[in-house]
Amino acid sequence: MQAQIPAELRRRFRAARRVCVLTGAGVSAESGVPTFRGGGGAAVWKGMPFDVISSAAMIERDLKSVWEWFDYRRDLIGSVHPNPAHEALARWQNLFGDFTLVTQNIDGLHQAAGSREVIELHGNIWRAKCMACGATEMLSLEQTRLRPPACVECGSEMRPDVVLFGEMLPMQDFTKAANKAVECELFFVVGTSALVYPAASLPEIAKGAGAYVVEVNPEPTALSAVCDETLSGKAGEVLPLFDVRDEDTLF
Ligand code: OAD
Ligand code: ZN
Repeated sequence: MQAQIPAELRRRFRAARRVCVLTGAGVSAESGVPTFRGGGGAAVWKGMPFDVISSAAMIERDLKSVWEWFDYRRDLIGSVHPNPAHEALARWQNLFGDFTLVTQNIDGLHQAAGSREVIELHGNIWRAKCMACGATEMLSLEQTRLRPPACVECGSEMRPDVVLFGEMLPMQDFTKAANKAVECELFFVVGTSALVYPAASLPEIAKGAGAYVVEVNPEPTALSAVCDETLSGKAGEVLPLFDVRDEDTLF
């Protein structure tokens, strides 16, 4: 059955000036990027759960394996394309006076769909960062695979520029996202299990500050109970429904 947009939400969507969206792995699922959780278990690579291989401790212990894991994921992501959910959100930036897209994803698919100024709370898989001087560099699929790569500025080892388990989020980005969550009237939380903090606190911050909070997910999550509206369905099917102007066809 196709999900429908309730009349109340449709009215709020049309009237809203300040809108904030938080996305997670589920928004890229229909592009073929595997999620971390759900679908029968958690991601495992070479016998290691993803929260072990994607950890600050593993950077210290075995930087080469961390690179191999992210190379594997980059290979997966290198051949995928944005889906109708990414495309719908790229259109939304033109609908509202103040629109903020915050993502936990590191795949760059929002930008590939045309979204500008995406707040990337967990970094970007296409970027490397020098562990000594902090210089960053974009990676390509084609480049030769010296692992770990050497920094062009100082020659030190580089690491993937992503936030790992046991690490802090980029504070400036999180603060900006939290401020937008406080200011917005309508907050969407799309395709995230909402288990990883502090990203998962953003919908709660928005709710606490008076926003109407809407979840889009085929499964219930830890946040479902605090949301004002839960649209049960796939992001790529639900989000484009907001484009349809003829209300009579929807409810
Ligand atoms: P998860 O894998 O934890 O959750 C994915 C969510 O997407 C689940 O709630 C699914 O029900 C939902 N989902 C699946 N298919 C969907 C679809 N087509 N449309 C909408 N929703 C769908 O992913 P995240 O919540 O993003 O962090 O995980 C958060 C963080 O945990 C990640 O950013 C990553 C991971 O550790 C770091 O690497 C730091
Ligand atoms: Zn350097």
